[in-house]
Amino acid sequence: MSINYSEDHKQEKITTAAVLPEDRNDGSLRPRTLSEYIGQQKAKENLRVFIHAAKLRNEPLDHVLLHGPPGLGKTTLAAVIANEMNVNLRITSGPAIEKPGDLVALLTNLSEGDILFVDEIHRLNRAYEEILYPAMEDYAIDIILGKGPSANSIHLDLPHFTLIGATTRSGMLTAPLRDRFGVTLHLQLYTPQELQQIVNRSASIMKVSITDDGSYEIASRSRGTPRIANRLLRRVRDFAQVWSDGSITKEIADSALRNLEVDACGLDATDRKMMESIISLYNGGPVGLDTLAATINEDAATLEDVYEPFLLQNGFLTRTQRGRCVTRKAYEHLGLLFPGQEQLAIDP
Ligand code: ADE
Repeated sequence: MSINYSEDHKQEKITTAAVLPEDRNDGSLRPRTLSEYIGQQKAKENLRVFIHAAKLRNEPLDHVLLHGPPGLGKTTLAAVIANEMNVNLRITSGPAIEKPGDLVALLTNLSEGDILFVDEIHRLNRAYEEILYPAMEDYAIDIILGKGPSANSIHLDLPHFTLIGATTRSGMLTAPLRDRFGVTLHLQLYTPQELQQIVNRSASIMKVSITDDGSYEIASRSRGTPRIANRLLRRVRDFAQVWSDGSITKEIADSALRNLEVDACGLDATDRKMMESIISLYNGGPVGLDTLAATINEDAATLEDVYEPFLLQNGFLTRTQRGRCVTRKAYEHLGLLFPGQEQLAIDP
């Protein structure tokens, strides 16, 4: 088997879970309430209780940490929470906070009850985290003015607010920050059935006619990720309009997705490269994550956060103490014989 280690797989693929420019107009497709929000049953059930209780006590919601792979709707869920609590949502991200003053400005501009959403909170500068500790615990910050013996500190009270942090890597948060979140919700990849409901809902908002098996075809090739499902729906709609009357059937969805090189399970070039190199260079594994990442010229964190969850959940990969191994399903998906089967294939 030949493996091409070039950089071309890093181009933004239609199956990437990262936000692409075209996803930015997903706004109208986003659910606004918990009852419109499909999937994540456990997180929703718990949130319903916490939101109800906070409203009964007339208090802001406790700080919430949302954890899970990209594209699962963490920002959407924060907006749903703000809407259910009837408060404003301010959105920022860890890397956007470039100096302590940015964080202080965000905090001091909040109104009572507001929600501050910090995406990729694990990328917030560690030195600025300390501003968050008293802000989260006591709704106050201490600002040091000046330097040396003449330095002065002023104590500023903040409105009672809720911090919602989102992360793909809760292991990278420091323990003091993690401990200050009263609620931690783990978001899971969506099942094809849940994604099918999302595709049907989005198609109806977009006024596109779609059959049940058409939406299932898109859903089952969307790597468990609503952002990808909505993106594929938009592209399949283009094919449906040009090829026929605009209605999406299973056949149209299948042909369109083939044209877009989205494989039957939604795997992309990096998924396949990962599995192929474990097989051809490491006899199916185990191989350590860093070694694998270096082999296929990919970032270890990206493999762990973006690619592995789907491959693990769908039984293509297993994680052992000694590293990652591919499964029989991976060999079969790549059209390769599972070790042991070669003999059967040769024997008459
Ligand atoms: N669009 C994107 N994510 C969604 C979800 N979880 N529920 C409904 N529509 C969505």
